[in-house]
Amino acid sequence: CGIVGYIGHRNALPIVVEALKRLEYRGYDSSGCALIHDGELQVYKRAGKIIELERCLPEPNKCTGNIAIAHTRWATHGEPNEVNAHPHLDCKGEIAIVHNGIIENYKLLRDKLIELGHTFVSETDTEVIVHLIEQFLLSETTLEDAVRSAMTKVEGTYGLVVMSLKEPDKLIAVRKGSPLIIGIGENEHFITSDVNAIIIHTKRVIYLQDDELCVVKADGFEITTLDKRSVKPEISVVDWDISAIEKGDFKHFMLKEIFEQPLTIENAFRGRINQHLGTARLGGLGIPNFELRKIKQIHLVACGTSFHAALIGKYIIEDIARIPVFAEYASEYRYRNPIIPEDTLVFVISQSGETADTLGALREAKAKGARVLAITNVVGSTIARESDGGTYIHAGSEIGVASTKAFTSQVTIMTLLAILLGRMNYLSTVKGMEYISELEKIPSKVEKILALNEYIRNIAATIKDCKNALYLGRGINYPVAMEGALKLKEISYIHSEGYPAAEMKHGPIALIDKNMPVIAIATKDPLYDKIYSNLQEVRARKARLITIATEGDTELSKISENVIYIPDTLTNLQPLLTVIPLQLLAYNVADLKGLNVDQPRNLAKSVTVE
Ligand code: G6P
Repeated sequence: CGIVGYIGHRNALPIVVEALKRLEYRGYDSSGCALIHDGELQVYKRAGKIIELERCLPEPNKCTGNIAIAHTRWATHGEPNEVNAHPHLDCKGEIAIVHNGIIENYKLLRDKLIELGHTFVSETDTEVIVHLIEQFLLSETTLEDAVRSAMTKVEGTYGLVVMSLKEPDKLIAVRKGSPLIIGIGENEHFITSDVNAIIIHTKRVIYLQDDELCVVKADGFEITTLDKRSVKPEISVVDWDISAIEKGDFKHFMLKEIFEQPLTIENAFRGRINQHLGTARLGGLGIPNFELRKIKQIHLVACGTSFHAALIGKYIIEDIARIPVFAEYASEYRYRNPIIPEDTLVFVISQSGETADTLGALREAKAKGARVLAITNVVGSTIARESDGGTYIHAGSEIGVASTKAFTSQVTIMTLLAILLGRMNYLSTVKGMEYISELEKIPSKVEKILALNEYIRNIAATIKDCKNALYLGRGINYPVAMEGALKLKEISYIHSEGYPAAEMKHGPIALIDKNMPVIAIATKDPLYDKIYSNLQEVRARKARLITIATEGDTELSKISENVIYIPDTLTNLQPLLTVIPLQLLAYNVADLKGLNVDQPRNLAKSVTVE
């Protein structure tokens, strides 16, 4: 899941271990590292957290090699134990590799290699790669050529770093479908799968492209394609610094990120709105207005929290722009042979830009001739690069596994898109101007809700020991209820469901009793009276009712145990406000339970396997 490599003039081991810790947020269940010291290849691996790995490492002054690789693993093939952890070695223990991705034809390769006399020790797909390289080194002269040949035999995805005792002056990095970044320092170089691991050392980076191989040395590097054509490196400069990836005064990254939302929402719309014309601009789409005007259908495809942003996008775009929108899980879309008529725009939405199913959906839509645009946070990510255009949400690094600020930024972009398309069709200037000026007020309204954190924490204390929870909403707040339920289950391990409030009586009502907290979004909008009746049904079954209401509401307090009052706004902008108390509620429940909020069990920040 996380890869780090170092080659240079400094002691490599502490550098790679420190860098690995910066990738902990991505989720993992074992870790390991390898280094060359005194002409010997040393490997250390442990199941569990990096702290376990650190306990078995030699003192830094006793281990002064200048070349090392390290890895955090999120188990796919084989359980998360020490043997399956990376790095993996060849038979002679001279070559070490770390790998992200999946090798699809590993069984076939493994059988062939066993026939050739190789012995395997782990259950991983990765191990075949190192044996394959060992095999090719019998005929090739350099490590890079052996890696090149090995990769022609491999089917699947990889971000791979290779080190060899026989050629200790180089690391080989090669990628296909799984990110790898080269960091350029002074007489030292870094390799990583996530730039956050190395920005403390350098901000000058190269995003390796698919089918590229980089030979990285202390004093230089050379990139070629797998078929040996030379590549001119494109150096990018990372535009955030270390404070963006540190917790500061906050107890957890998730809390910090929730509190960043007034700023991140503004960053998503800044420079993209035109108050005077009541419209929005999304230049990155790369589609001229006359073409946008012809759009007849929109597909929004995503996973997890990003999928909930897509669902909200459907409500906003259909209402404002009157264009039919289909929001769908990427894992379903990619395999169900979707119908994509002409004049359809497909948007894939992904915070990380690396989610395997979302990438698969992008490729499927492109294969069907569709124009595919990406809404992502991570610059240079695979999804950003493979799409035909798109929009960055500019939320800054999101470290907490449970997505918060990326979600509100994605919803902000959905709103801009709706306004942009709306103004080409059914939205008047005056109405467009109203949307824009209300959108500009959202950050300060979010600020007001954040000030309720202590109050929400007290409510959280009353539900933290429950086993189940039901979240209800109607209209545009129905997907917000789903997102609230997802937040709670992800980090507090309380089973929770988000449901359309009226649909509750067709099933979930059977579960309602005094032990079931029901969290309902019942803000002032055209469906207020309807949801009020639904909540009375809930109350009649003695559920513990917590409501999100619009400031000034006097009715909900009569039937709720707690009411969280939030500022009023236009119905289509409500999700940007109603989700905030739900994020705070989930956070506080998990924190009061003493759980690892930023790294919940079994979850990964970016799921690069399908
Ligand atoms: C994982 C994360 C979620 C995220 C989802 C989609 O499950 O834990 O927080 O919403 O992936 O990720 P993406 O990066 O594509 O938005």
